Amino acid sequence: MQDILEQYNSVSENQVSTWFNVGVVSDFPENSGACIKYKTKQIAVYNFVRKGKWYACQNLCPHKMEMVLSLGMIGDKEGIAKVACPMHKKNFSLEDGSNLGGDDLKIAVYPVKVEDENVYIGFSD
Ligand code: FES
Repeated sequence: MQDILEQYNSVSENQVSTWFNVGVVSDFPENSGACIKYKTKQIAVYNFVRKGKWYACQNLCPHKMEMVLSLGMIGDKEGIAKVACPMHKKNFSLEDGSNLGGDDLKIAVYPVKVEDENVYIGFSD
C-alpha cells in the first residue's frame, strides 16, 4: 500500500514537464469532483466555480488508503479551498495538500490550467 502512496508527490507549476489534457470544461461537474487517470495515478479534479478556480489532487485518501477524494465535498476554510474525504471527513487543503485537521497526513496537489476550453493537469513525470 505504501508503494501506491509514494507515487503521489505534489507538483508546482515550475516543475511541470507534461501538461496532460484531461478533457474539456463541460466534461467536469461544477463545484464537485471527477476522477481521471494519468499513467498509474488516479487524480481528482475539481471545477471550483464558486472560487473561479480549478484544483487537482491525488484521489487516494491517505487515511485508510481509499480512492475516494474525487467524491468528497469541496468547500472553503478561512479562504483556503479544501476537500473533505467522504469516508471520515478529514479535510485537506487543495492549495498545498496539508491536512487542515492538524495531523500529518497530507495529499499531493497538482496545477491545473484551462486553455481554449481544454483542461490540463501538470505532472513532472
Ligand atoms: S479514508 Fe479518508 S478520512 Fe478516512
